[in-house]
Amino acid sequence: MPTATAIAHPNIALVKYWGKAPGPGNVPAGPSLSITLDTLVTQTRVSIADRDALYIDDAPAEDTKVRACLADLRAHYPIAPLRIETSNNFPTAAGLASSASGFAALVTAIDHACDLGMDAATRSRFARRASGSAGRSIFGGVVALSGPEWTATPILAPEEWPLQVVVAITHAGRKNVSSSVGMRLSERSPYYPAWVASTAADFTAARTAVMDRDFSRLAEIAEHSCLKMHGLMLATPPGLLYWNAASTACLHAIRALRETGSDVFFTMDAGPQVKAVCLPESTPRVARTLAEVPGVQRVLVAGLGDGARIIES
Ligand code: PMV
Repeated sequence: MPTATAIAHPNIALVKYWGKAPGPGNVPAGPSLSITLDTLVTQTRVSIADRDALYIDDAPAEDTKVRACLADLRAHYPIAPLRIETSNNFPTAAGLASSASGFAALVTAIDHACDLGMDAATRSRFARRASGSAGRSIFGGVVALSGPEWTATPILAPEEWPLQVVVAITHAGRKNVSSSVGMRLSERSPYYPAWVASTAADFTAARTAVMDRDFSRLAEIAEHSCLKMHGLMLATPPGLLYWNAASTACLHAIRALRETGSDVFFTMDAGPQVKAVCLPESTPRVARTLAEVPGVQRVLVAGLGDGARIIES
């Protein structure tokens, strides 16, 4: 039976995507820019089978987004029933971009197992249609996702700017409002039009800062994009509040570290974990400090990783 195993890494957006363009196809309302991490991994094995079946961490599972992704692929390619077995080495659906690595690995494994002959841009488009941020995890290093095609493109390879990320886990449970639901609700925020209108300028400025390896400028843009997104979420009736007390304490700790000489900035997504992006010399101090913040359960350290790839077939 044809089988393929793919791995992919989550990515963390420095200029955020939050909101969908009107109409079908899961098209983002604005461009985004991300870094792909190395030590966090989704591994997905796909085999041709008698009927579709999904296993997450060896347990049978149902997932409407996986079902929709399969239907989308089957509308374009003849694909037999598939057995899909997937697992993460990090908490799932907790604001750590497990859907990004999950769909990047899934599309990559299906392409190989079913011999569909997709190029990376095509895999990125199908992954993005399943979960907006997943299109970016097809590529490694620093990655952009912008229109009009809305397939991701790599900007820098991991070794071209070896940034590191300390992830402070403050709560490993599943988030209570999914990204898709949160995005739809956010359209009701009075800030939504301003958020969408201002993202293109952040994206262009961040891309320039990355090309110039200008860490301080990137820090300013990334923290602003993150706080602006959370401001939008807070102003979404009845208020999307993904932070907990430990998240806030981490943000203050990161700013204090920067004021005392560390090259570090923060970002947060739709969950209470805090990601501290560092230049490598600053990573040990940042990791030690965040590990001691009350409420932080553990810290993970990652460098920049490669894109989704086949590891066995
Ligand atoms: O790809 P989704 O639907 O899980 O949305 C991702 C949203 C954020 O992580 C908050 C921002 C981003 O650009 O990754």
